[in-house]
Amino acid sequence: MDSALLLTLLLPVAVVSHVLDLPPKALFKMGNRSELACRMSSCPEKVKFVWTSLEDKPLFASVNTKDKESVLVFENVKTNHENHIVCKASCGKETKQATTKITVYSFPRNPVISMYDRLMLGKENVLACEVSSVYPSEYLEVQWLFGDKVMKTDEGEPGKDVLSIPYIFTPSSEDDGKAITCRATLHVEGIPPDEMTKETSEIMKVLSAPHNVNVSGATAVSLGSSLTLTCKAEGNPKPVFTWTALKPDGQSVEMGKSQDLFMHNVSLSDAGTYQCDVSNDLGRQSTAVSVVVQAPPMDTLIVASPQSSLKEGDTVSISCKSSSVPVTKVVLSREENGADNELTTREGAETTFIIHFVTLAQSGVFVCEAFNEYGSQRTTLNLTVEAHFLEVELQPDSVIVSNRGSSLVLACQASGCPHPEFSWKNPSDMQILRRINTDGFQSQLFLDPVEVEDEGTYLCEVTCGSVKKSKQTEVKVFSFPTNPIITSSGPFLVGEMMKLTCTVQDVFPANLFQILWLDGERVKHSESGSFSSGATNLTSVYSYRVDRKDQGKLITCKVLLDMHGVPAQQVVKTASTTLSVHYPPTVTRITVTPVTELKEGESVSISCNSDSFPVGRTVLSKVADGIQTELMTSDGVETLLTLPSVELDDSGLYVCQASNMYGNHSDSVEITVNGTFLIFELECIRSI
Ligand SMILES: *[C@@H]1O[C@H](CO)[C@@H](O)[C@H](O)[C@H]1NC(C)=O
Ligand SMILES: *[C@@H]1O[C@H](CO)[C@@H](O)[C@H](O)[C@H]1NC(C)=O
Ligand SMILES: *[C@@H]1O[C@H](CO)[C@@H](O)[C@H](O)[C@H]1NC(C)=O
Ligand SMILES: *[C@@H]1O[C@H](CO)[C@@H](O)[C@H](O)[C@H]1NC(C)=O
Ligand SMILES: *[C@@H]1O[C@H](CO)[C@@H](O)[C@H](O)[C@H]1NC(C)=O
Ligand SMILES: *[C@@H]1O[C@H](CO)[C@@H](O)[C@H](O)[C@H]1NC(C)=O
Ligand SMILES: *[C@@H]1O[C@H](CO)[C@@H](O)[C@H](O)[C@H]1NC(C)=O
Repeated sequence: MDSALLLTLLLPVAVVSHVLDLPPKALFKMGNRSELACRMSSCPEKVKFVWTSLEDKPLFASVNTKDKESVLVFENVKTNHENHIVCKASCGKETKQATTKITVYSFPRNPVISMYDRLMLGKENVLACEVSSVYPSEYLEVQWLFGDKVMKTDEGEPGKDVLSIPYIFTPSSEDDGKAITCRATLHVEGIPPDEMTKETSEIMKVLSAPHNVNVSGATAVSLGSSLTLTCKAEGNPKPVFTWTALKPDGQSVEMGKSQDLFMHNVSLSDAGTYQCDVSNDLGRQSTAVSVVVQAPPMDTLIVASPQSSLKEGDTVSISCKSSSVPVTKVVLSREENGADNELTTREGAETTFIIHFVTLAQSGVFVCEAFNEYGSQRTTLNLTVEAHFLEVELQPDSVIVSNRGSSLVLACQASGCPHPEFSWKNPSDMQILRRINTDGFQSQLFLDPVEVEDEGTYLCEVTCGSVKKSKQTEVKVFSFPTNPIITSSGPFLVGEMMKLTCTVQDVFPANLFQILWLDGERVKHSESGSFSSGATNLTSVYSYRVDRKDQGKLITCKVLLDMHGVPAQQVVKTASTTLSVHYPPTVTRITVTPVTELKEGESVSISCNSDSFPVGRTVLSKVADGIQTELMTSDGVETLLTLPSVELDDSGLYVCQASNMYGNHSDSVEITVNGTFLIFELECIRSI
């Protein structure tokens, strides 16, 4: 453009006889040693050369002039050598001049691509193509190419020694390993074609964190077989693989550091989750797979809770459970006559069946069967149900003799049974109308007060599930509440029949009573009671001809209850009476002391004694000359008369008469009083 203009301006000057030979344009390569020759060959003589610069700067060159030629030498071409230079040559008188334009270029190196080897997958990456030491930079064209395809074209800017041309690019994983090219072309006329374009190709490297992690291989394996899992992942740099087993307890166990996980003879414990960890410098990724070990059910359990050995009425929970191998169904049944009678079925690994109030008949074999698609497993349980070891105790036991009116409690106690049921019975199945108090393990029957009608057999029956036990006791009643009472028909006169009656009230059972009449220790009479259905009054009469010697005698009525079991202090009761015998006066005796023949002035005592009952009167009289004179009377059986000094006329018959309601009896004595030496005659008359 500029050079073309210059050329047209210089053309008219070229019309001369001598020819001055100077190229109108010169293109120098930066850094080269370049020469520019100006020649006038037609001049026969030595030519005089003058070089001048048209631009306001020096030539920066050395001159080497010969006869017909001058050469400008540019050592180490630089940009300041760009110039318009005039060569003026004089041949003799003729001067000719020519102008040349020096242009400099620099394009020594291939472009340099940066960032091509660390492209981030899927991210916007900035690649740079750097062209250095380029001149003139505004004539540089830079292209980014994939293969032959131009992706982007840029042009240089003036005044830059180094041009950096960016290319913004989001790589995909297919771009890894592909070439990218940066082609730079310096559009300067005259550059040798082989120097005009320079290009650099690089193989792109697309980096990525691990991704597309993928595990292949069968995750369901049968017991004992082999398992291979392969972990695949993309990523650059090439990722490292780690296999880890994630145990159910939260632990993790490293299984290896290769892409493949291999296990042979797979056991149940190998089932679970396996994780493949993939990592490189840019990150990590992991994926987990669940490995199922296919086996028929194992470890199938049937358990009775709280236990398999039960007592009637207990509650039991039977659970059927299969662990360690996935199970699709569990069936709980009862074996009956060789066949399974299904109780409960569950889609799953566990089922439970609860029996409330288990009965003896529910003893037997229970079966738990677990199923899955590979088979089944059967386990059994023996359930034993036993009757309760019921014990019944009745207090008091056997025979109880009870006093009528007292209170009697029959206590029935059950042991060995959690929920006993009581019932009271009597053999004749009559209803018991007495109060019954049942509380838990004890039932009480209250006979309060005990009546004669309560006599009988009592049965306490306890039911505990299928067990029935009873105890019985016999209640015997006696009644003997009071002492006997003796009544008499008396008083009794000697020789008469006396009648004593002994009565004992409200006795039972009358036939076991005996009434004894005792005279001191001697049994005089005995009588037994006769049967009576209720309490009765017993009476016994004792008849006896009384004698005088029976007076004051103690007659006892002794009542005996001859019944086994009656307390000793209640067996005998007595009543006594003292006999009172009535009789007329007897053995009446008159006594004179000291003698019956007395002398005048002497002292005498006359006493009279008699015996009678009841005591009557005693009268002492003197009979003299047919006249009876009462001397003394006393209410008693004796009397005493003392004569301190007898006189003659105290002589006479003295009569003592004792009397009571039944008769009289007398005695008499003759008392004689002499004068001095008088002799008394004693005569004694006794009458009975
Ligand atoms: C630069 O110098 C080399 C040798 O030194 C030469 O071959 C080449 O032609 C020169 N280039 C220019 C444009 O002067
Ligand atoms: C795993 O690989 C399969 C087959 O090569 C492919 O179809 C699937 O998309 C992959 N999955 C992932 C998560 O990369
Ligand atoms: C497989 O493992 C089981 C238990 O781990 C073992 O009893 C059996 O012998 C093993 N079988 C083989 C073929 O190794
Ligand atoms: C279960 O009971 C059956 C008979 O009822 C008996 O043959 C078997 O031995 C018992 N099993 C066990 C484990 O007690
Ligand atoms: C027994 O005698 C008492 C008193 O005499 C009398 O009240 C009662 O009714 C008599 N009992 C019988 C059963 O005769
Ligand atoms: C004494 O008894 C006789 C006959 O027993 C009777 O005649 C007489 O009157 C009685 N004398 C007196 C004082 O009671
Ligand atoms: C008293 O007198 C009587 C006769 O009158 C005579 O027989 C008797 O002997 C006398 N007694 C005394 C002791 O003298």
